[in-house]
Amino acid sequence: MNAFENVHEEDIYETEIINLRQEFDRGVAEGARLIRMGELVAFPTETVYGLGADALRSEAASTIFAAKGRPADNPLIVHVAELEEAFRLAYVTPEAERLMEAFWPGPLTIILRKKTIIPYTVSGGLETVGLRMPEHAGALALIREAGTPIAAPSANRSGRPSPTTAQDVYEDMKGRIPLILDGGASSYGMESTVLSLAGTPTILRPGMVLPEMVAQEIGYVELGKNVLQPVEEGSVVLSPGMKYRHYAPSANVTLVEDEGDGRMAAAIAKIYDRETAAGKESLILATEENSVFYGGRNYAIMGSKADAAEICRSFFRLLREADRCDVQEIIVEAVPARSCGLAFMNRALRAAAFRVFYAGEILGE
Ligand code: TXA
Ligand code: MG
Repeated sequence: MNAFENVHEEDIYETEIINLRQEFDRGVAEGARLIRMGELVAFPTETVYGLGADALRSEAASTIFAAKGRPADNPLIVHVAELEEAFRLAYVTPEAERLMEAFWPGPLTIILRKKTIIPYTVSGGLETVGLRMPEHAGALALIREAGTPIAAPSANRSGRPSPTTAQDVYEDMKGRIPLILDGGASSYGMESTVLSLAGTPTILRPGMVLPEMVAQEIGYVELGKNVLQPVEEGSVVLSPGMKYRHYAPSANVTLVEDEGDGRMAAAIAKIYDRETAAGKESLILATEENSVFYGGRNYAIMGSKADAAEICRSFFRLLREADRCDVQEIIVEAVPARSCGLAFMNRALRAAAFRVFYAGEILGE
């Protein structure tokens, strides 16, 4: 049996949770000890929780794929605690250095040509590696104490919404890993911006470090063609993670856009009533502004239209809550794909498997 077959023996660990707010030193020491032994440790970051292993040991990294059920060609992000580490792991360009100085520690992953020290297990067979320095004190302490860079994807089972609390990780990873470090709810609640500098600077996955912020530092940046579009069958993708179904709760997800004509709420109410009449437990993920139109229906507020970062912060949490309540149909309000709304739409489109309806279409006009 090998990890690439994604075969996994259930419940081989008694998964321990250590609360870093109460036992910071013990949690970090125990986490670092396990990482050094080649084991997996879930840890908090400011974006989402990560599932970490020693990035310099191929066998350690390969167990990540088994625990997540992740395809072996989907590369892992390598987390560092010092800027100098980046130079040991990858060929750091002047543009990359500039961005690291501007945005690290923080929610920006930079893809660079890898050095041989990075195993192909970690890079998913690619000649590049994604590097990130997280901002969360628990994450930084864990990397320092382990004395090695930590490869970590989001700590969800493959295809599920990313975890933003230790409880979310426990739901997905119980019995599969020895330790979860609990650092409270992730402050951004959405994964880092992934920027490739391996060729033309291109944002492969939008996040809280916005395209305009990157452009301000290095002059220009492109938006990857799959940020808001599905990957076509058989095509080559820059970011392998983008080709898999993603962020999906058990429920069916439908995304509704309007043409700025304010008919979104009416269209969503119509879908909701239709699904409910068909016997489906339904939930609307609403902006605060539109929520007044959903009276009597089951809805949850993602945040204000004026604060897309808040909408990002609550999205994965609400998808997971919907699963816990056995919701079968989730109807989500789209927001304009600019500023932090770009990151939200990138995730919402994938959660909905690109099922998008326009309000006019639904209202039959
Ligand atoms: O915020 C985050 O980035 C979190 C925390 C734990 O740091 N990590 C995370 O990792 O979201 P993951 O594996 O769930 O998503 C990483 C994405 C994937 O879509 C992957 O395909 C892409 O980044 N990626 C990583 N390395 C890459 C590379 N060398 N070339 C292209 N894409 C890469
Ligand atoms: Mg992920």
